[in-house]
Amino acid sequence: MFVIAYLLGSIPSGVWIGKLFYKKDIRQFGSGNSGTTNTYRVLGKTAGTIVLAMDILKGTLAASLPYFFHSDINPLIIGLGAIIGHTFPIFAEFKGGKAVATSAGTLLAYNPQYFIICACLFVTLIYLTRMVSLSSMLGMLIIAPLSLVYHDWILTTIAFILLFFITYRHKDNIKRIKNGTENKVPFGLGYKK
Ligand code: G3P
Repeated sequence: MFVIAYLLGSIPSGVWIGKLFYKKDIRQFGSGNSGTTNTYRVLGKTAGTIVLAMDILKGTLAASLPYFFHSDINPLIIGLGAIIGHTFPIFAEFKGGKAVATSAGTLLAYNPQYFIICACLFVTLIYLTRMVSLSSMLGMLIIAPLSLVYHDWILTTIAFILLFFITYRHKDNIKRIKNGTENKVPFGLGYKK
């Protein structure tokens, strides 16, 4: 199941949609990332929304595998396979995304209530900061300790692993945030047309 999850996660939605329909490798534009944010930035709303849905779905399907296989293994463990695949995809030279959307998809399958809370928090942070990268990191900084309310040590352990991993994957964004050059979304607090 972990291997299937890894292969699912490895489907490089942003790269394939970009190459197939827009004749562009999104990793050569914008932030150079192959995830949802850069797809919105480089290819626009339609492509961005499709890639967001696909990247979430990869995590959701992967974390649902134990259900399909009638296995007792924790879905989050299998979801990790998809998160690793999304970040280091075998189908795209191991250059993948920053683990955010696929982690969200894994949580959606595992604990939909907590997914909704996290999604609301994330959208609020994007509105306030106008930076998806900063919102991803700040969001994880809140989500990891907040998961303690569920008294579920696997959920909390994986949330803390993801806090460190997602922050590490944003190391270039951190440099840009520090020197004031990080990309901002064209909406939210203080945005002027
Ligand atoms: O999920 C990735 C996002 O947090 C940042 O993406 O393209 O701005 O580096 P990007």
